[in-house]
Amino acid sequence: MIATALTEMFGLTHPIVLGPMGGVAGGRLAAAVSNAGGLGLVGGGYGDPAWLRAELSRVTEEARRPWGVGLITWSIDRSVLDLALSYRPDAFLLSFGDPRPYALAIKSAGCKLICQVQDVEQAVVAREAGADIIVAEGTEAGGHSGARATLPLVPAVVDAVAPTPVVAAGGIADGRGLAASLMLGAHGALIGTRFYASAEALGQDGAKQRIIAAHGNETARTYVFDIVRGYAWPQAYPGRALRNRFMECWD
Ligand SMILES: Cc1cc2nc3c(=O)[nH]c(=O)nc-3n(C[C@H](O)[C@H](O)[C@H](O)COP(=O)(O)O)c2cc1C
Repeated sequence: MIATALTEMFGLTHPIVLGPMGGVAGGRLAAAVSNAGGLGLVGGGYGDPAWLRAELSRVTEEARRPWGVGLITWSIDRSVLDLALSYRPDAFLLSFGDPRPYALAIKSAGCKLICQVQDVEQAVVAREAGADIIVAEGTEAGGHSGARATLPLVPAVVDAVAPTPVVAAGGIADGRGLAASLMLGAHGALIGTRFYASAEALGQDGAKQRIIAAHGNETARTYVFDIVRGYAWPQAYPGRALRNRFMECWD
């Protein structure tokens, strides 16, 4: 068994966190990861209240160990944050945006604050906000990410926020990736894409089969999903200006 600050904080048997994949990491997957000894996080994404009620009810029914929930920070509506907290999660992950306006509410609910960051400056802000854990997410990550790759980003964040524990994310899918994360100074790994390809994940079976069948060379970075869904990501994020210009053309 590998013991780290992450496993000790939540009583885990594995230093593994489920990425809060919006609309994909539902209550069933989060409970499965937690019950297997990791930390399952429900992917609340942009904060749809009906979806959250359904999936948080499910995780509270099925999880026998600590679990958590994640929201995309720039899209948070305070009533949705309070809704999620009312289910008494053990951990709350905020990603993409300034966590400081929400840190007090989360921590005073007895919940650990996890901030997922994409650069060192955001990591320092997260530490100032009182983050209990900081996830350093490199560009290999599925979903949205920043401009720095996991291998150089993780040790830079570890050095910048010590002694706050750091968890590595982006392109980690097996034990070797976890071992490498620990060597970089992280206390565990947060994994998304690999868990998408599991029976408990929400999402289309066809998408899961494509993930399993895909070759690494088929990795593609695209703004198409945001454009089609009409999400207005703030300009502050790398590539957003370009993406928003695409959206203007789309309109
Ligand atoms: C389909 C998908 C949706 C995601 N949605 C979110 C999200 O809503 N909020 C968030 O903080 N991270 C989200 N992520 C990123 C994960 O939290 C995590 O950083 C990433 O999956 C790690 O890299 P990996 O996919 O290579 O394991 C998403 C990832 C994927 C694959």
